[in-house]
Amino acid sequence: MARLNKHPVWQSLCQHQEKIASLHMRDMFANDANRFSKYSLKFSDILLDYSKHRITDETLPLLFQMAREANVEQWRDKMFSGEKINITENRAVLHTALRNRANTPIMVDGHDVMPEVNAVLAQMREFSEKVRSGSWLGYTGKRITDIVNIGIGGSDLGPVMVCDALKPYASPDLNVHFVSNIDGAHLMRALNVCNPETTLFIVASKTFTTQETMTNAHSARAWFLNAAKDEAHVPKHFVALSTNAKAVQDFGIDTANMFAFWDWVGGRYSLWSAIGLSIALYIGMDNFEELLTGAFEMDEHFKNAPLEQNMPVIMALVGVWYNNFFHVDSQAILPYDQGLSRFPAYLQQADMESNGKFICRDGSRVTYKTGPVIWGEAGTNGQHAFYQLIHQGTQIVPADFLIPVHSHYKVSSNGYAHHKILLANFLAQTQSLMLGKTTEQARAELEKQGLSGKALEELLPHKTFEGNRPTTSILFDKLTPNTLGKLIALYEHKIFVQGIIWDINSYDQWGVEYGKQIAQQILPQLTNDEVVGNYDSSTNGLINYTKALKPD
Ligand code: F6P
Repeated sequence: MARLNKHPVWQSLCQHQEKIASLHMRDMFANDANRFSKYSLKFSDILLDYSKHRITDETLPLLFQMAREANVEQWRDKMFSGEKINITENRAVLHTALRNRANTPIMVDGHDVMPEVNAVLAQMREFSEKVRSGSWLGYTGKRITDIVNIGIGGSDLGPVMVCDALKPYASPDLNVHFVSNIDGAHLMRALNVCNPETTLFIVASKTFTTQETMTNAHSARAWFLNAAKDEAHVPKHFVALSTNAKAVQDFGIDTANMFAFWDWVGGRYSLWSAIGLSIALYIGMDNFEELLTGAFEMDEHFKNAPLEQNMPVIMALVGVWYNNFFHVDSQAILPYDQGLSRFPAYLQQADMESNGKFICRDGSRVTYKTGPVIWGEAGTNGQHAFYQLIHQGTQIVPADFLIPVHSHYKVSSNGYAHHKILLANFLAQTQSLMLGKTTEQARAELEKQGLSGKALEELLPHKTFEGNRPTTSILFDKLTPNTLGKLIALYEHKIFVQGIIWDINSYDQWGVEYGKQIAQQILPQLTNDEVVGNYDSSTNGLINYTKALKPD
């Protein structure tokens, strides 16, 4: 697509937005009894309700036209077939191969990657079964009780989120800890509750060069050797997940204990690869494979469903509608499931590292907005924190509300299941954000409470809610490994479609790499006594201020 905003469909969408901007969803629902059935879609056990959006029967056809003109279907097929769509790194984008449960050949540089994918899955099964059954023993002959995954970004956020979400499937005999931050507090808080004799460290790093991960891994190794005394014991307690066999060897980990993956797996799309080893250990390989199967099912849906009935495509287009035509700046992710409390953080990386770009594929600058700020929190906690702004703030925040119909936890109080209370809150929020409360309704309520005259008039504007605030509701049966796989893949493909429409490369992250380079440059300057003067005055000032205080 030649420049998104130079295309005729862009103008049509701008004109259409002007036409419907003043329409209220309250009236749209009142005027169309079929709005829910028209704007909702079921795939497997997932229901997507996108009826509480500022869209009419004209909106979606225009958005689908935009997707077609951007060649979304062609790009999707290129991704799935292993074409090198990550142009700045000359790499294929094949996280879908990791969960290709049909096992059909997928070719990269003339060879089928599926045999390698299957071999690593088999290695993960063998290893996780040994650890879970207690036949993998530590250096004093005891079984492993604690897993410490050391990784950051994509080598952390996916496994953290999935292990938390699927805790009901976890082995009662294994604790899992995640250490990512270079702040020594993160490592020490994990080590303080672990015993070196029964702890297994997973060093998870695609590159095996990431400063935070390598530093934490070296410190963990020193902590372990302080107890074990003998380097020969390291292989029983350290394994590596990486694409970099040489660096793994240099660290002192036997490559027999390395679980490989490949450069065509992006860090933020890697939980399906060997990076998921902590998940497989925690919930078992069968459940890990169910996660893969769920994602595969969503992949098939994304590949085969027409755009008009394609869940990731619809979510992507609704997002573009607000981002580029209502000029919103953020997108909230609000899971009504405690297990999904890290889902917003996971999606922050998946979305913002993918679509936080201002350069088009051809190297020119985009002239429209790309990825929004992604944020959120588990419901109902968010309700008591930031929902006020979503209800009555001056900016529109489109929000995804996610909830399982059935909970893993059967707990009731005063005759009400906690889960029904959670559901009631979920339903109340999406309804009230859409409907709002008119001045007339607010006036009637205040009068009923006995207010009148000046007191009523003064309070009235504060008690009025404009409503018309857009939400997507995503309901699923239960948070199982299969369903979680589908949900994650749903968002991955949504991000993909948006990246294609915005004509950016969603699969590199040069901004992050730049920050890493500067940190490497500053680090040695913090360890000598010389006054620093090679940066801007703020950075020089901060470095010299810190040095004068003799940092730890
Ligand atoms: O945050 C930047 C990044 O490159 C992510 O894309 C990646 O997931 C993370 O660092 C960790 O990288 P690695 O797995 O190579 O340690």
